[in-house]
Amino acid sequence: MKAAIWCAPYKVKVENVPDPKILNRRDAIVRLTSTCICGSDLHLVDGFVPFMKPGDILGHEPMGIVEEVGPDVDKNKLKVGDRVIVPFPIACGECFFCRRQLFSCCDNTNVKAYIPEQAFGQTLSGVFGYSHLTGGYAGGQAEFLRVPLADVNCQKMPGDLHDHQIVFLSDIYPTGYMAAWHCNIQSDDTVAVWGCGPVGQFTIRCAMLLGAGKVIAIDNGRTAGYRLKMAADAGAITIDNRAEDVYERLMDLSAGIGPDVCIDAVGLESHGHSPMETVYDKVETNLMLESDRPAVLRQAIECCRPGGTLSIPGVYGGFGNKIPLGALMNKGLTIKTGQTHVHRFVPELLDFVRKGRIDPSFVVTHRIPLSQAPYGYHIFREKKDDCVKVVLDPAA
Ligand SMILES: NC(=O)c1ccc[n+]([C@@H]2O[C@H](COP(=O)([O-])OP(=O)(O)OC[C@H]3O[C@@H](n4cnc5c(N)ncnc54)[C@H](O)[C@@H]3O)[C@@H](O)[C@H]2O)c1
Ligand SMILES: [Zn+2]
Ligand SMILES: [Zn+2]
Repeated sequence: MKAAIWCAPYKVKVENVPDPKILNRRDAIVRLTSTCICGSDLHLVDGFVPFMKPGDILGHEPMGIVEEVGPDVDKNKLKVGDRVIVPFPIACGECFFCRRQLFSCCDNTNVKAYIPEQAFGQTLSGVFGYSHLTGGYAGGQAEFLRVPLADVNCQKMPGDLHDHQIVFLSDIYPTGYMAAWHCNIQSDDTVAVWGCGPVGQFTIRCAMLLGAGKVIAIDNGRTAGYRLKMAADAGAITIDNRAEDVYERLMDLSAGIGPDVCIDAVGLESHGHSPMETVYDKVETNLMLESDRPAVLRQAIECCRPGGTLSIPGVYGGFGNKIPLGALMNKGLTIKTGQTHVHRFVPELLDFVRKGRIDPSFVVTHRIPLSQAPYGYHIFREKKDDCVKVVLDPAA
């Protein structure tokens, strides 16, 4: 089959690789019909996650049709021919964490648990196509995907919705939802969202679904002006951080006290807010003195109102420097974060789509053949051709 392969930092190729096979009795093989490129994939391709090996298959936002099931897959839950989305975390459904619906913390599915145990103190779940830190599982930017514990990890979908209305249930739609849901949003709350990539776009819409009084979207108007426009189309007030002082604007928009909720939908590759800060983080990461560039986190802590909530869906990998812990502690901020517990949110969020409360297909700007994945990565990273979200078509 064809698959998008990580070769080296900044090098993705589409190659022919062996078809996946049933390895364990509860595996399924899914023939993929749509599979997406995520901002999290950029961290791998940009070399920020040091646990990739040449030949690893990328991708963790897939959907398709079940082609084959192992003998122990629960036939009442899943059978050949079912249409499914596959959440990016691989869960067992039975462990301490899964029983508490903390599926991305599942401690049964990461076959290389010793790596996160050393890096983070405990393991985290396996993830498709997301380095050997999360188990080294083959990813979904391919024609076929092997799904372990398939009756837990394949989520059945109805036949009457278009792929683009449901494929994002695998990741960015629940991620935007969890980022907002974590913050117990009230009707008079002002919510500020940093980053208008695909995750930011879903966060903005989900904050509105959850009843936020005012949503403010922040990004760079020079490189991502079209993304700010997509946020404005959803009803957000926008701030161009190249042209405006983010802190001053946020104070103006929140009666001088700062937003109640600040959401970092950017993560470890954020751009600094001054030339000094950008150079500082570049030098520190190049010298391996820090692994992450936490410019947005610093600014969000500074801007958030005392007693407010800071939510961090943006991915961090290791260590960041100059985090203003004094402000964080003295202002009494609450931090909520995590890889998304996707399985938990799928039924509720599918229902929102069915009821017409959100149509996730708004985010798709490009649908291209899987064979053009390197081009897809290029336009997504460089923000060419007004790219927000790339969906790859394995059958084209
Ligand atoms: N928690 C989870 O489970 C989960 C799931 C999916 C993605 N993510 C993470 O969410 C983040 C966003 O993903 P995406 O697909 O939207 O990525 P993306 O790269 O398309 O979007 C990031 C946006 O942030 C903007 N940005 C950069 N620096 C900024 C700054 N200083 N201020 C404001 N905006 C800034 C960029 O211009 C870009 O538009 C990534 O870190 C990704 O890894 C997390
Ligand atoms: Zn993702
Ligand atoms: Zn589990």
